[in-house]
Amino acid sequence: MKVISYSGSIEVYTHYNQLNDPNAIQLCKDSIEAMADAYAPYSNFQVGSAIRLDNGTIVKGNNQENAVYPLGLCAERVALYASSSQYPDNQITHLAVATAKKLADGETPPFPCGSCRQVLLEMEQRFGQDITIYVVGGNDSVWVVHSAKDLLPFAFSKDSL
Ligand code: THU
Repeated sequence: MKVISYSGSIEVYTHYNQLNDPNAIQLCKDSIEAMADAYAPYSNFQVGSAIRLDNGTIVKGNNQENAVYPLGLCAERVALYASSSQYPDNQITHLAVATAKKLADGETPPFPCGSCRQVLLEMEQRFGQDITIYVVGGNDSVWVVHSAKDLLPFAFSKDSL
């Protein structure tokens, strides 16, 4: 028997304005802005996402629901698929995701779901580029993860096939 340890790290800022990169601050704002156009009449839980590409292009997305509940899609995947369909030759370098849920002291904001983590990982592999993920909470705090790999250890990927 052997034990395999794994770890990752997340940076936490009380306000996204504290990020020392103007592009990162703008991306967080873009994700908050994208929330307003979510179509979420069933959950009433709006999520916004904004992606930055290697050429500086910003692609936004938000959650899209349906009366047939399982057909809905998360904000992150709406943005990721829009990006990879419209800009197939550009690396995705950063993704911000925002929710409005008010957070109690020390509470973690809603993080990307497992399916979105899997798609983020696919995009990292496809473009050979780690994606920095900014998770923006309802109190404007931001949690920064430097790769989807940190959110999805022991993942299934093309190397598993
Ligand atoms: N949702 C997202 O957009 N992103 C996530 O990472 C988790 C959940 C959406 C899906 C659904 O429209 C609503 O939030 C409630 O689950």
